[in-house]
Amino acid sequence: MEGNKKMITIYIMGKAYKVPFGLTIMKAVEYAGYRFIRGAGCRAGFCGACATVYRKKGDYKFRTALACQTTAEDGMYLAQLPFVPANREEYNIENIDPDKNVLSEYYPEINRCVSCNTCTKSCPQELDVMDFIQAAIRGDYKKVSSLSFDCIQCGLCTARCPAEITHYHVAQLARRIYGKYYSPIPKHLEKRVGEIKKGKFDKEIERLKKMSVDELKKAYVKRKIERIPRGEVREE
Ligand code: FES
Repeated sequence: MEGNKKMITIYIMGKAYKVPFGLTIMKAVEYAGYRFIRGAGCRAGFCGACATVYRKKGDYKFRTALACQTTAEDGMYLAQLPFVPANREEYNIENIDPDKNVLSEYYPEINRCVSCNTCTKSCPQELDVMDFIQAAIRGDYKKVSSLSFDCIQCGLCTARCPAEITHYHVAQLARRIYGKYYSPIPKHLEKRVGEIKKGKFDKEIERLKKMSVDELKKAYVKRKIERIPRGEVREE
């Protein structure tokens, strides 16, 4: 206890620190005196910058997490992975032949997948990573796009893969191909673009431009959001 706070011990790069119970790993690391220069972005589970690996005392399992989304636990041995080296192939999406299995062409290592499922187990978004790699091997762009839709590119799957696959780059290429060549043109988007071009929102934009930062923040929080179920690819 420190004051009224229950304290736990975490280990950062092997060194022990006492931190208050209940903090995220990110806040616990900062409480211990570290400052994130890399390895922190949105702090809200969206950007994938805060990939972390850890073990717990007395537990053989090598675990993965997002530092901003995971509560620090007593006895955690932590290391941040601010960047996972993963080569991304260069391509021009305009020149791709979508009738071929381009994923296998650009990323032939996907065919080395041994179906160990380590990628799925290491995904902090709980995506079926191994399944989308299997779909990639079959050239099923739609399935890869759908299964990988919530990928935040943290790289933890890639860091753990024994076949050295760069899953998130493969999935990104599949989503780009699906979006460009197969996904139906969203009617609502086409309609909205037309309205914008005709100046339907000009007055509203002028009104927003005159607002203070605080007023803008309040308007942002109050805005209407259309929710699309997790993992779904919109079709119209
Ligand atoms: S800081 Fe963006 S996901 Fe954690």
